[in-house]
Amino acid sequence: GAAIEYKSVDWSHEGPFGTYDRAAAQRGLQVYREVCAGCHSLEQVSFRTLADLGFTEDEIKAIAAEGTYMDGPNDEGDMFERAGKPFDKFPSPFANEKAARASNGGAFPPDLSLIVKARPGFENYLYSLLTGYEDAPEDHKLPAGMAYNAYFAGHNIAMPAPLAEDGVEYADGTKASVDQMAKDVTVFLAWAAEPKLEERKNMGLKVILFLLLLGGIFYAAKRKVWSDLH
Ligand code: HEM
Repeated sequence: GAAIEYKSVDWSHEGPFGTYDRAAAQRGLQVYREVCAGCHSLEQVSFRTLADLGFTEDEIKAIAAEGTYMDGPNDEGDMFERAGKPFDKFPSPFANEKAARASNGGAFPPDLSLIVKARPGFENYLYSLLTGYEDAPEDHKLPAGMAYNAYFAGHNIAMPAPLAEDGVEYADGTKASVDQMAKDVTVFLAWAAEPKLEERKNMGLKVILFLLLLGGIFYAAKRKVWSDLH
């Protein structure tokens, strides 16, 4: 069939001077934690990096402490449970892939840490996917346990529509439409996959300014050195 064209959003972090929309990313964290984290891990992201998004140390401690982790062995050689700390990674919903598949009709919910880097322009795909649940067309045979999604390859997806109107109650009072939550969680996951994007773009800009300046100095020096020949 014809290639699927995704919806296109102007993400603030795109382009040579792009920066993440911090308010959107903070809301997106809420969507991840309250919705996606039921099935998807985010196992490469540690709580302390949330400082990047403007969370205070106390807020980060509180978020981390909601998870429980196995630790040890202690002095007696025993493993023990403890509350999460800022240096911990986000807790995974399932012990392993087998358990994840068992809970999802055999399908595997991928880890979301780097998902936005799966291919260029993944933000638009993710946003389209999250807003792309529809009734299947009459001539489409939907296998049992699957949902129809306009943007998923083959359309039959094992992930049930995760977002519903007002599915979260945003801490900042923003209306939680499906569209809003889809955008916000996409910004959050883009940040999670490349928290240093702004530094990278900044450095690129500095390098270009430096080269322009150096070029100017060399040009002036050349004019001076060769001025006798005029
Ligand atoms: C697949 C994101 C919530 C279960 C996926 C994929 C992404 C994703 C990017 C990969 C799609 C692809 O392969 O192209 C999200 C986000 C969520 C969310 C951002 C929250 C807003 C959930 C929830 C569940 C779930 C709550 C479980 C009830 C799955 C499963 C798959 C999947 C089983 C594999 C689908 C298949 O291969 O057919 N999800 N997800 N997801 N997700 Fe989610």
